[in-house]
Amino acid sequence: MTGQRDRWADLTGGQAGEEYAQRFARLAESGHDIHGEAAFCAALLKPAARILDAGCGTGRIAIRLTELGHYCTGVDVDPSMLAVARRDAPTQEWLLGDLARLDALGLNPGFDLALAAGNVIPLLAPGTEPAVVRQLAAALRPGGLLVTGMGLDAAHLPLSEPSVTLAEFDHWCTQSGLTLRQRYATWSGDPYDEGCGYAVSVHSRPTT
Ligand SMILES: C[S@@+](CC[C@H](N)C(=O)[O-])C[C@H]1O[C@@H](n2cnc3c(N)ncnc32)[C@H](O)[C@@H]1O
Repeated sequence: MTGQRDRWADLTGGQAGEEYAQRFARLAESGHDIHGEAAFCAALLKPAARILDAGCGTGRIAIRLTELGHYCTGVDVDPSMLAVARRDAPTQEWLLGDLARLDALGLNPGFDLALAAGNVIPLLAPGTEPAVVRQLAAALRPGGLLVTGMGLDAAHLPLSEPSVTLAEFDHWCTQSGLTLRQRYATWSGDPYDEGCGYAVSVHSRPTT
Protein backbone atom coordinates (compact mmCIF):
# COMPACT_ATOMS: atom_id res chain seq x y z
CA MET A 1 0.00 0.00 0.00
CA THR A 2 1.11 3.57 -0.54
CA GLY A 3 0.01 4.52 2.97
CA GLN A 4 -2.21 7.28 1.56
CA ARG A 5 -5.96 7.07 2.00
CA ASP A 6 -7.90 7.18 -1.24
CA ARG A 7 -10.73 9.65 -1.70
CA TRP A 8 -13.26 6.79 -1.90
CA ALA A 9 -12.25 5.61 1.58
CA ASP A 10 -12.50 9.20 2.82
CA LEU A 11 -16.04 9.40 1.47
CA THR A 12 -17.29 6.01 2.62
CA GLY A 13 -15.13 4.96 5.54
CA GLY A 14 -14.53 1.69 3.70
CA GLN A 15 -18.02 0.42 4.50
CA ALA A 16 -19.94 1.11 1.30
CA GLY A 17 -19.99 -2.31 -0.39
CA GLU A 18 -23.54 -3.42 0.38
CA GLU A 19 -25.06 0.02 -0.08
CA TYR A 20 -23.27 0.50 -3.40
CA ALA A 21 -24.49 -2.87 -4.68
CA GLN A 22 -28.04 -2.16 -3.53
CA ARG A 23 -28.04 1.17 -5.34
CA PHE A 24 -27.28 -0.55 -8.64
CA ALA A 25 -29.77 -3.34 -7.89
CA ARG A 26 -32.49 -0.71 -7.42
CA LEU A 27 -31.49 1.00 -10.67
CA ALA A 28 -31.69 -2.33 -12.53
CA GLU A 29 -35.08 -3.11 -10.99
CA SER A 30 -36.41 0.24 -12.12
CA GLY A 31 -35.39 -0.50 -15.71
CA HIS A 32 -32.06 1.33 -15.96
CA ASP A 33 -29.29 -0.26 -17.96
CA ILE A 34 -26.45 -0.83 -15.48
CA HIS A 35 -24.21 -2.52 -18.03
CA GLY A 36 -23.19 0.42 -20.21
CA GLU A 37 -19.51 0.22 -19.28
CA ALA A 38 -19.36 -3.53 -19.98
CA ALA A 39 -21.12 -3.11 -23.33
CA PHE A 40 -18.70 -0.31 -24.27
CA CYS A 41 -15.65 -2.47 -23.47
CA ALA A 42 -17.09 -5.58 -25.13
CA ALA A 43 -17.52 -3.62 -28.36
CA LEU A 44 -13.75 -2.99 -28.38
CA LEU A 45 -12.78 -6.64 -27.90
CA LYS A 46 -13.15 -10.13 -29.24
CA PRO A 47 -13.87 -12.88 -26.69
CA ALA A 48 -12.08 -14.23 -24.86
CA ALA A 49 -10.02 -11.17 -23.94
CA ARG A 50 -8.07 -10.65 -20.71
CA ILE A 51 -9.48 -7.69 -18.83
CA LEU A 52 -8.21 -5.97 -15.70
CA ASP A 53 -11.05 -4.25 -13.85
CA ALA A 54 -9.04 -1.71 -11.89
CA GLY A 55 -11.04 -0.47 -8.93
CA CYS A 56 -13.62 -3.17 -9.64
CA GLY A 57 -15.70 -2.34 -6.58
CA THR A 58 -18.56 -4.81 -6.14
CA GLY A 59 -17.75 -6.48 -9.46
CA ARG A 60 -20.74 -5.13 -11.38
CA ILE A 61 -18.76 -4.66 -14.60
CA ALA A 62 -16.33 -7.59 -14.37
CA ILE A 63 -19.19 -10.01 -13.72
CA ARG A 64 -21.03 -8.78 -16.82
CA LEU A 65 -17.87 -8.94 -18.96
CA THR A 66 -17.33 -12.52 -17.81
CA GLU A 67 -20.91 -13.35 -18.85
CA LEU A 68 -19.98 -11.90 -22.26
CA GLY A 69 -17.11 -14.38 -22.60
CA HIS A 70 -14.08 -12.52 -21.27
CA TYR A 71 -11.56 -13.35 -18.55
CA CYS A 72 -11.64 -10.67 -15.88
CA THR A 73 -9.41 -9.94 -12.94
CA GLY A 74 -10.84 -7.48 -10.45
CA VAL A 75 -8.59 -5.45 -8.16
CA ASP A 76 -9.82 -3.16 -5.43
CA VAL A 77 -8.45 -1.75 -2.20
CA ASP A 78 -11.80 -1.67 -0.35
CA PRO A 79 -12.59 -5.02 1.34
CA SER A 80 -16.28 -4.13 1.75
CA MET A 81 -16.65 -3.73 -2.02
CA LEU A 82 -14.68 -6.89 -2.80
CA ALA A 83 -16.76 -8.89 -0.30
CA VAL A 84 -19.84 -8.28 -2.47
CA ALA A 85 -17.96 -9.25 -5.64
CA ARG A 86 -16.69 -12.45 -4.01
CA ARG A 87 -20.16 -13.35 -2.76
CA ASP A 88 -21.84 -12.68 -6.13
CA ALA A 89 -19.19 -14.35 -8.32
CA PRO A 90 -17.09 -16.66 -6.15
CA THR A 91 -15.33 -18.32 -9.07
CA GLN A 92 -13.98 -15.08 -10.53
CA GLU A 93 -10.60 -13.64 -9.63
CA TRP A 94 -10.87 -10.78 -7.10
CA LEU A 95 -7.69 -9.32 -5.62
CA LEU A 96 -7.34 -6.95 -2.72
CA GLY A 97 -4.67 -4.41 -3.63
CA ASP A 98 -3.68 -0.84 -4.29
CA LEU A 99 -3.54 0.13 -7.97
CA ALA A 100 -0.53 2.31 -7.21
CA ARG A 101 1.29 -0.94 -6.31
CA LEU A 102 -0.28 -3.25 -8.86
CA ASP A 103 3.14 -4.77 -9.54
CA ALA A 104 3.18 -6.12 -5.97
CA LEU A 105 0.21 -8.40 -6.81
CA GLY A 106 2.35 -10.48 -9.16
CA LEU A 107 -0.21 -10.44 -11.98
CA ASN A 108 0.81 -11.69 -15.38
CA PRO A 109 0.94 -8.58 -17.57
CA GLY A 110 -0.39 -8.61 -21.12
CA PHE A 111 -3.98 -7.59 -20.45
CA ASP A 112 -5.96 -6.74 -23.59
CA LEU A 113 -7.83 -4.03 -21.72
CA ALA A 114 -7.62 -2.29 -18.36
CA LEU A 115 -10.77 -0.55 -17.19
CA ALA A 116 -11.04 2.17 -14.55
CA ALA A 117 -14.74 2.97 -14.52
CA GLY A 118 -16.97 4.66 -12.00
CA ASN A 119 -14.68 7.57 -11.20
CA VAL A 120 -11.80 5.38 -10.02
CA ILE A 121 -9.19 7.89 -11.26
CA PRO A 122 -10.70 10.94 -9.48
CA LEU A 123 -11.17 8.86 -6.32
CA LEU A 124 -7.54 7.71 -5.97
CA ALA A 125 -5.39 8.96 -3.12
CA PRO A 126 -4.14 12.48 -3.93
CA GLY A 127 -0.79 12.38 -5.68
CA THR A 128 -0.93 8.69 -6.61
CA GLU A 129 -2.68 9.19 -9.95
CA PRO A 130 0.45 9.24 -12.16
CA ALA A 131 1.73 6.04 -10.51
CA VAL A 132 -1.63 4.32 -11.02
CA VAL A 133 -1.75 5.28 -14.70
CA ARG A 134 1.83 4.02 -15.07
CA GLN A 135 0.94 0.71 -13.44
CA LEU A 136 -2.16 0.26 -15.60
CA ALA A 137 -0.18 1.02 -18.76
CA ALA A 138 2.48 -1.51 -17.75
CA ALA A 139 -0.19 -4.18 -17.27
CA LEU A 140 -1.30 -3.93 -20.93
CA ARG A 141 -0.02 -5.95 -23.84
CA PRO A 142 1.35 -3.94 -26.80
CA GLY A 143 -1.76 -2.59 -28.51
CA GLY A 144 -3.81 -3.04 -25.33
CA LEU A 145 -6.38 -0.46 -24.26
CA LEU A 146 -6.89 1.63 -21.15
CA VAL A 147 -10.57 2.58 -20.82
CA THR A 148 -11.57 5.15 -18.22
CA GLY A 149 -14.68 7.01 -17.24
CA MET A 150 -14.46 10.07 -15.04
CA GLY A 151 -16.48 13.03 -13.94
CA LEU A 152 -15.05 16.44 -14.68
CA ASP A 153 -17.40 18.53 -12.57
CA ALA A 154 -19.20 18.22 -9.26
CA ALA A 155 -22.41 17.11 -10.96
CA HIS A 156 -20.65 13.98 -12.23
CA LEU A 157 -18.57 13.21 -9.15
CA PRO A 158 -19.21 12.21 -5.55
CA LEU A 159 -16.85 15.08 -4.65
CA SER A 160 -17.56 18.76 -4.09
CA GLU A 161 -15.08 19.70 -6.78
CA PRO A 162 -13.08 17.91 -9.46
CA SER A 163 -9.84 16.34 -8.24
CA VAL A 164 -8.31 15.72 -11.66
CA THR A 165 -8.51 17.56 -14.97
CA LEU A 166 -8.65 15.81 -18.29
CA ALA A 167 -5.45 17.59 -19.33
CA GLU A 168 -3.65 16.17 -16.27
CA PHE A 169 -4.99 12.70 -16.98
CA ASP A 170 -3.93 12.84 -20.63
CA HIS A 171 -0.48 14.03 -19.52
CA TRP A 172 -0.07 11.04 -17.15
CA CYS A 173 -1.16 8.75 -19.99
CA THR A 174 1.36 10.30 -22.38
CA GLN A 175 4.10 9.98 -19.73
CA SER A 176 3.18 6.29 -19.46
CA GLY A 177 3.52 5.78 -23.21
CA LEU A 178 -0.21 5.72 -23.98
CA THR A 179 -1.94 7.42 -26.91
CA LEU A 180 -5.46 8.82 -26.85
CA ARG A 181 -7.58 6.92 -29.38
CA GLN A 182 -11.18 7.88 -28.65
CA ARG A 183 -13.09 10.11 -26.27
CA TYR A 184 -16.83 10.24 -25.64
CA ALA A 185 -19.16 12.04 -23.26
CA THR A 186 -21.01 8.86 -22.21
CA TRP A 187 -20.67 5.08 -22.20
CA SER A 188 -23.25 5.09 -25.02
CA GLY A 189 -20.74 6.86 -27.24
CA ASP A 190 -22.22 10.37 -27.31
CA PRO A 191 -19.67 12.80 -28.76
CA TYR A 192 -17.33 14.53 -26.34
CA ASP A 193 -17.09 18.30 -26.50
CA GLU A 194 -14.98 20.72 -24.49
CA GLY A 195 -16.92 21.49 -21.34
CA CYS A 196 -18.65 18.10 -21.04
CA GLY A 197 -18.97 17.01 -17.43
CA TYR A 198 -17.95 13.43 -18.07
CA ALA A 199 -15.33 11.78 -20.27
CA VAL A 200 -15.00 8.20 -21.41
CA SER A 201 -11.50 7.82 -22.81
CA VAL A 202 -9.77 5.05 -24.71
CA HIS A 203 -5.97 5.18 -24.65
CA SER A 204 -3.78 2.54 -26.23
CA ARG A 205 -0.32 1.17 -25.69
CA PRO A 206 1.79 1.23 -28.87
CA THR A 207 2.07 -2.07 -30.70
CA THR A 208 5.86 -1.99 -30.76
C1 LIG B 1 -17.13 4.52 -7.21
S1 LIG B 1 -16.30 2.99 -6.97
C2 LIG B 1 -16.44 2.29 -8.64
C3 LIG B 1 -16.47 0.77 -8.61
C4 LIG B 1 -16.63 0.11 -9.98
N1 LIG B 1 -15.53 0.44 -10.86
C5 LIG B 1 -17.94 0.47 -10.61
O1 LIG B 1 -17.94 1.29 -11.55
O2 LIG B 1 -18.98 -0.03 -10.18
C6 LIG B 1 -14.56 3.45 -6.93
C7 LIG B 1 -13.69 2.28 -6.54
O3 LIG B 1 -12.31 2.64 -6.70
C8 LIG B 1 -11.61 1.93 -5.70
N2 LIG B 1 -10.28 2.50 -5.50
C9 LIG B 1 -9.95 3.78 -5.18
N3 LIG B 1 -8.61 3.89 -5.04
C10 LIG B 1 -8.08 2.66 -5.28
C11 LIG B 1 -6.76 2.14 -5.28
N4 LIG B 1 -5.70 2.91 -5.02
N5 LIG B 1 -6.59 0.84 -5.57
C12 LIG B 1 -7.65 0.04 -5.82
N6 LIG B 1 -8.93 0.47 -5.84
C13 LIG B 1 -9.15 1.77 -5.57
C14 LIG B 1 -12.50 2.08 -4.48
O4 LIG B 1 -12.16 1.19 -3.45
C15 LIG B 1 -13.87 1.85 -5.09
O5 LIG B 1 -14.28 0.51 -5.02
